[in-house]
Amino acid sequence: MFKTIEWTDDGVRMIDQLKLPAQEVYVTCRTYQEVAEAIRSMVIRGAPAIGVAAAMGLALGVKNSGARTIPELRAEFEKIAETLSKTRPTAVNLFWAVKRVRGVFDQALALAADGATRAVAAVSPPPPTKDRRSETAATEAAIIETVKARLTEEAQRILAEDIAINEAMGKHGAALMPDSGTVLTHCNAGALATGGYGTALGVIRAAVAAGKKINVFADETRPFLQGARLTAWELAKDSIPVTLITDNMAGHFMKAGEIKAAIVGADRIAANGDVANKIGTYSVAVLAKENQIPFYVAAPLSTIDLSLASGDQIPIEERTPSEVTHWAGVATAPENVPARHPAFDVTPHRYITAIITERGIGREPYTESLRALFA
Ligand code: MRU
Repeated sequence: MFKTIEWTDDGVRMIDQLKLPAQEVYVTCRTYQEVAEAIRSMVIRGAPAIGVAAAMGLALGVKNSGARTIPELRAEFEKIAETLSKTRPTAVNLFWAVKRVRGVFDQALALAADGATRAVAAVSPPPPTKDRRSETAATEAAIIETVKARLTEEAQRILAEDIAINEAMGKHGAALMPDSGTVLTHCNAGALATGGYGTALGVIRAAVAAGKKINVFADETRPFLQGARLTAWELAKDSIPVTLITDNMAGHFMKAGEIKAAIVGADRIAANGDVANKIGTYSVAVLAKENQIPFYVAAPLSTIDLSLASGDQIPIEERTPSEVTHWAGVATAPENVPARHPAFDVTPHRYITAIITERGIGREPYTESLRALFA
């Protein structure tokens, strides 16, 4: 199995999702700026994977830092965090990861500084002033090394936890999948969109592992084709039956009775259960309701943003129209035709049958069930 992202001594290694499915190649980001660019350009994408990449980007930036004092290190941390936070606005996992790493950074600094103060206090009598100055510099250097090591560990822990979370989500969600038949998915919410295993595709993987006979219909997912390029590739590699359809075929197959359930991932879920996910998800959810087909969302708690009361407050990334008018550099529309590219839409909670998380399943009223999952 491929690795979506991993920490190496040379930097952060990622499978290049812009090259799939034609080539399975890996890139190594050697600076935090390269990690930020990989997120922005979608070499790596998918909410949980973006979170892992942000954590590794922060750890890498701090590891490479030439800061010689703690204030310098703090200033550098803020610059790195800001650069990474500006890459993509919708997936809340990015901000969740930055917040978590910041917590570890602050804690590591406080603990290391506390330990150093105790060590200095234990030395009596105090050394002469000149010696004290070089001692302080040596102590700061040691603290900085400790902080670097802690962030490196934390970034790798976030990756390992993400995989375990997806497996737990799979176990909860597998029971909701039909024993046999076709399940529709939109975009790519698989191993490629996470540290590994996947959210929506993780649930499908777990159902298949439990013996369910599932065929996946993958929406191609215009305009960036995550379904065609990534979901179809990933499922085929895992020998899970997959059939590719264009987005506008979903309604036809639902009405014809060919689809038993739909399952997608999420980029941000508001406290009331409204879900932001890849553009086109809302249409799938409305079609599912119209055709009495259950519509499930699988997402870790790190994708749930209880600070937002409803989906109306979720920032929606608007990407370049050239991703709509062109494919692989070739124009598919008349030159200069205006185009729009909102990369996500919000599905109101009334269309969602259940939200599957690593802690269990939330249902209406989501304002209560989601909070309970955090408790
Ligand atoms: O623009 P992308 O490819 O980053 O969008 C990804 C999605 O919308 C996924 O469905 C979502 O992040 C869930 S991934 C487990």
